Amino acid sequence: MEGPFYLASLTFLLMLVAIYWHRAHRFHVPVMFSIIAFDIGMPFYLMMTRDWSKRLLTDGDILSFGVWMHFGLIIALFVLYTIQVIAGLKLLKATTNTNDSRIEHRMLAKGIMLARALVITTGAMLSEPGTDA
Ligand code: HEM
Repeated sequence: MEGPFYLASLTFLLMLVAIYWHRAHRFHVPVMFSIIAFDIGMPFYLMMTRDWSKRLLTDGDILSFGVWMHFGLIIALFVLYTIQVIAGLKLLKATTNTNDSRIEHRMLAKGIMLARALVITTGAMLSEPGTDA
């Protein structure tokens, strides 16, 4: 667990910094895009480094509440990311009256931070001791 968990937690802190410095577009936008790419890459990395058929099929974890909870949260996070990127790009293009988009972007940010915190927590709960690669 350790590697991916600590790395994901670190990117969570980085996200908080990027939210704080949202006015610095050259910092905020690339950091957010990189973290989204990191989150897209994580399932592929874990699939390549873990024995998923044993865990899900042989051990029967595919029917566990924890696995479905984690999966559902990931789907929710990606849906939120999609809407957030659209709202963010709208903000970048806008020249006047960006208030509605800013409110939308800010509200989505809260949902994303909550969903991401839960994805990391449920992921940590699912990880098997000794798999720290
Ligand atoms: C990757 C695509 C994203 C783009 C293109 C983008 C772009 C922007 C822009 C242009 C602003 C306005 C900055 C200003 O006031 O001048 C902004 C603000 C902000 N962004 Fe993002 N952003 C992205 C992703 C995210 C994500 C993933 C989060 C949170 C998890 C986030 C949270 C915020 C917050 C909280 C603000 C401040 C809103 C306000 O009160 O005005 N952004 N973003």
